Amino acid sequence: MPQLTVVTRQGEERTVEGEVGLSVMEVIRDNGFDELLALCGGCCSCATCHVHVDPAFADKLPAMSEDEDDLLDSSATRDATSRLSCQIQFTSALNGLKVRIAEED
Ligand code: FES
Repeated sequence: MPQLTVVTRQGEERTVEGEVGLSVMEVIRDNGFDELLALCGGCCSCATCHVHVDPAFADKLPAMSEDEDDLLDSSATRDATSRLSCQIQFTSALNGLKVRIAEED
């Protein structure tokens, strides 16, 4: 299974395996990172699954929808690497992806 490295708000880094077909949010949540709240369960309506994605993978990510873009605008910590992790499907092309859980808004 492809691997995903997750950096917590405390700066701890852990690499986990992710099932293809899940979203990056689901891979993070299923591996016990409870600081990623993902309150809406992946419906693109809460922004509590905000992560910063390693720029090296920027061109492998799915395009951002208008809804995701609007929601990310509600975050004070949005930057050029920001994505909602529920909107990224985990695939083998993303093997080695590194994401940092965003600061709490
Ligand atoms: S889980 Fe709510 S927007 Fe991603």
